[in-house]
Amino acid sequence: MKIVTIVGARPQFIKAAPVSRALAKAGIDEFLLHTGQHYDREMSDVFFEELGLRAPNLNLNVGSASHAEQTATMLVGIERALVEQKPDWLLVYGDTNSTLAGAVAAAKVNVPVAHVEAGLRSFNRRMPEEINRLVADTLSSLLLVPTEAARKNLQREGVPEDRIVWTGDVMFDVALMFRDQALGRSTVLERLGLAERNYVLATVHRAENTDDPGRLRAILSGLQAVAKELPVVLPVHPRARKMIEQGGLDTAGIRLTEPLGFLDMLRLEMGAAVIATDSGGVQKEAFFHRVPCVTLREETEWVESVELGWNRLCPPNDAARITHAVLGARGTSGRQAEPYGDGRAAERMGRALLEHP
Ligand code: UD1
Ligand code: UDP
Repeated sequence: MKIVTIVGARPQFIKAAPVSRALAKAGIDEFLLHTGQHYDREMSDVFFEELGLRAPNLNLNVGSASHAEQTATMLVGIERALVEQKPDWLLVYGDTNSTLAGAVAAAKVNVPVAHVEAGLRSFNRRMPEEINRLVADTLSSLLLVPTEAARKNLQREGVPEDRIVWTGDVMFDVALMFRDQALGRSTVLERLGLAERNYVLATVHRAENTDDPGRLRAILSGLQAVAKELPVVLPVHPRARKMIEQGGLDTAGIRLTEPLGFLDMLRLEMGAAVIATDSGGVQKEAFFHRVPCVTLREETEWVESVELGWNRLCPPNDAARITHAVLGARGTSGRQAEPYGDGRAAERMGRALLEHP
């Protein structure tokens, strides 16, 4: 069996690492196509190196552009590769423009699509990710769901049962695979002079938070107030960096860093007193390490850690509210459960691809 896998953005390189390995183990021939959506060394190459993901067979180098322009360039390159490679499946991850382009290109040339992280819904169509997910799921023949909530969303939308396969969340596979390496190899706490459980780790990159100066200002100013009590580390996503620079926003008191490699990021997550984030991946990693989390959004598609009490939503439009939520989360915990599976999602994905015609 031959598959073409599309990756393009940071979280997709991370998800692809265990899946690529599982596919090879299952005897599946994989052609890895990097769209080039993320291209800075610390947004791309560093993950291939640290997670042992093999080099892409093809990089389209699309770079940054508007949604339409970026997606259109990807469509052209992906279609060409699919026509040349003639795979049995196209595999896409998550909800980025690379996911959307992969699903649309494949559906048009009659290559069946398998979608990892199918069925997630924020029910907020102003998010580009929600549009990407809806289209990818509609076009997919195999919907690989990470959670029961995702399965229910698809059932509610009338997706036939034989197209849905529960795998668990592949990010949990990754966290289990790299936890010990992060503890053993990362020196990030020493480098940043941080003490275990005595700092807040924050990330912000969603378009709805970074592109709205009011919201970005509220988040930064909420974190500045937190930093008066606890050090706050913010590895800055390039989208946020651009908006902070353009708006001349004040970040005094917050420890800004470049985007971090994966082992340093995991290590920082594991040692944090609280994580404040608008990232889907980071929210879940907070839960995997049982670190209290404040999600800087109105809603989340990863509802499980909120329901279990480890995570709380905080609409990021009021600085004082953010400060209160972050400081209030310190020392809290929630109920124990494993809603994200058993760390063997990648293996189930390989099996599902082989078993589905
Ligand atoms: C994308 C995804 C988002 C995902 C995130 C993961 C879409 C619509 N959004 O958001 O769902 O959560 O990746 O990180 O697909 N830039 C650089 N260097 C890079 C990449 C980007 O400087 O290597 C800057 C550019 O100014 C660019 C901006 O970041 O315009 C945004 O990049 P883009 O890939 O469009 O979206 P992300 O915000 O990264
Ligand atoms: N991550 C990282 N370095 C950073 C920020 C995030 O390695 O500086 C990792 C993080 O641990 C998680 C993934 O990137 O595994 C999440 O990606 P991101 O927040 O960009 O996207 P999302 O998950 O929201 O789509």
